[in-house]
Amino acid sequence: MAIERTFSIIKPDATKRNLTGKINAKFEEAGLRIVAQKRIQMTMEQAGQFYAVHKERPFYGELCEFMVSEPVVVQVLEGEGAILKNREVMGATNPADAADGTIRKEFALSVGENSVHGSDAPETAAEEIAFFFSGLEIVG
Ligand code: CDP
Ligand code: MG
Repeated sequence: MAIERTFSIIKPDATKRNLTGKINAKFEEAGLRIVAQKRIQMTMEQAGQFYAVHKERPFYGELCEFMVSEPVVVQVLEGEGAILKNREVMGATNPADAADGTIRKEFALSVGENSVHGSDAPETAAEEIAFFFSGLEIVG
């Protein structure tokens, strides 16, 4: 399998509870390298654009409010099959359905406040990385 890059966010519920290091350890234990990372306060405009695909969903407004409620850590993760691997490490969207050992099983509070975002496909990974990072900020 090829070396890929994927985009990750450590969400407000997790930064608020000081879980950045514990979540990063999960990525690293799975063989994902953090090749770019920054802590930012997302704006409502960024949150709205980033989650535009969910615009028509009932949770969109609440999701955007949540994403700007505390700082987030945006990241680029690199590794063999990184996109799928990250989704496995994250676990199911709803922590009630997440497998043992996954980030969401261990740390998520609810289906909304679920500690991490991860890209779902190569196209979205490329788009999402470019949304938050310039090429110079990614050092593999
Ligand atoms: O994050 P993931 O790709 O697993 O799930 P999604 O279906 O792409 O939804 C994006 C985000 O919207 C989730 O991670 C949740 O934070 C939120 N969401 C929610 O609040 N309520 C739902 N029923 C589904 C998703
Ligand atoms: Mg998604």
